[in-house]
Amino acid sequence: MLAASPTALPLALLCLVLTLAPSSTDARATPHPAAAPGVPINIMRRASVQRSLEDLGSWAQRNKQNTEAKYGMKSNKGKRANGLNLLTNFEFDSTYFGSVAVGTPPTPFDVILDTGSSDLWLASGTGSDSRATKDITLFEPTSSSSFTDLGKEFQIQYGSGSAQGVLGSDQVQFAGFQIGQTFGLVNQTTQSLLTAPMSGLMGLAFQSIAASGATPFWQSLVETSGALDSPLFAFQLTRFTNDSSAQKTEPGGTFTLGAVNNSLFTGDIDYQDIPNGAPGYWIQELSAMKVNGQSISLPSGSAAWAAIDTGTTGVGCPADVLASIFAAVPNSAPGTGQFEGYYTFPCSTSVSLTVTWGSSSNAWTISPDDFILQQIDNQGTCVGAFFEVDSSGTTAPAFIFGDTFLKNVYSVYRASPASVGFATLSSTAINANGVDAAAPSATIGTGVTSVTPSTSGSNGGTSGNSNTNGAQHGIQMSGAVLFSLLVGAACVLL
Ligand SMILES: *[C@@H]1O[C@H](CO)[C@@H](O)[C@H](O)[C@H]1NC(C)=O
Ligand SMILES: *[C@@H]1O[C@H](CO)[C@@H](O)[C@H](O)[C@H]1NC(C)=O
Ligand SMILES: *[C@@H]1O[C@H](CO)[C@@H](O)[C@H](O)[C@H]1NC(C)=O
Repeated sequence: MLAASPTALPLALLCLVLTLAPSSTDARATPHPAAAPGVPINIMRRASVQRSLEDLGSWAQRNKQNTEAKYGMKSNKGKRANGLNLLTNFEFDSTYFGSVAVGTPPTPFDVILDTGSSDLWLASGTGSDSRATKDITLFEPTSSSSFTDLGKEFQIQYGSGSAQGVLGSDQVQFAGFQIGQTFGLVNQTTQSLLTAPMSGLMGLAFQSIAASGATPFWQSLVETSGALDSPLFAFQLTRFTNDSSAQKTEPGGTFTLGAVNNSLFTGDIDYQDIPNGAPGYWIQELSAMKVNGQSISLPSGSAAWAAIDTGTTGVGCPADVLASIFAAVPNSAPGTGQFEGYYTFPCSTSVSLTVTWGSSSNAWTISPDDFILQQIDNQGTCVGAFFEVDSSGTTAPAFIFGDTFLKNVYSVYRASPASVGFATLSSTAINANGVDAAAPSATIGTGVTSVTPSTSGSNGGTSGNSNTNGAQHGIQMSGAVLFSLLVGAACVLL
């Protein structure tokens, strides 16, 4: 499925080895965008972003390929029914991460919050390899008195690489709650999977697509009677793509678990059910799309399913729909070279795109600023945030709607009835866009509610059943979970 993907490279070239030992050698083969030596910064960006064209181009290709590859309790202490985690916006809306704290004593880690996958994993290491990555904070099991080695391997494979390690279990704090949670301790990943300060990823989709078989953190709380006010979580994501003074990290918005935050949206939340038979993603059916008022012809039924995915930067579409979208954008053209699978168009062209989900009558707008991924030359050429994905022959949804869309709405992910809701951002939320400030720091240990999941074995961590879980879900996850990991990787490279 991936024509020129790095799949052909030996695995050794693809892998970044994470070890516990600090080292002077940074194994990341991909230059960090902010420090790409020898690459002329000839890019004209609306914002003062220090991102080279080469980096953007290779990112664009990886993002496209990786997106294609991805889809191949009872409260026993002081009760608390909802909680929040303040997010960080990394590199001008490329990635949104939050923080978890793991172990005893709790140690904070920044993790990508990804509604497009279902596993929690952290960079860890074995201490045996010198090719350490200096910047990434690693989870050290020996530093936690509550850690349990589950004696099982954790591996996620995808079109162009893998992340692997072992499964462990420990106390995990997130958004004001603490539970025992199974997670992956990853000592080897594709080269571009993580960029400091991120240490891993928290999957926020359903357990049915978890590679580890473990019940995701959010779902354990939902399934524990009385733990949450409401069986849902919600995101408000900030926009800095068009802020000329944006820094590499900025406040990213708000994640709320167990409740919606009424100060961040106005009006009703428009919930649309996840279609019957949809797998463990947060799926919505795309029922209408307009580009500058012009209707785009869409497929129907499951061919119009979209994953609502905070872990993807842009929007992935089938080739024909992508072509229709840009047919409505004057002077646009298919991207070439590193921008193959994307389209270019004059930055001066304002493109406003609306989408309608399920049986709703609401049309949600993607702002012209979000429709642009980035300006790519001095002649005012921009590359769009929409890119081609080919899900044919996979169980993956045909569309992936990431942050390009989600910045424009308040989004709610509800377990029962299984649905996704969108609402209009409040002025409080909108006023947070482009306001330069320090990114939030991790808050750990204070006011955390410890919860014992009520579902026996729900964490997949008891050694009797995680193999079973793994086998059960193995097929579903191939090309599924993996997608998100890669997209996460691609995102952090921008
Ligand atoms: C990663 O961990 C696994 C399981 O403990 C081990 O077999 C493997 O050698 C480790 N890889 C590296 C590169 O340290
Ligand atoms: C609602 O969101 C605002 C803005 O992020 C935050 O300051 C506030 O604490 C949140 N309220 C609750 C109850 O989570
Ligand atoms: C950024 O984009 C948003 C959405 O289009 C717009 O409302 C806002 O005014 C823009 N900010 C700047 C600084 O251009």
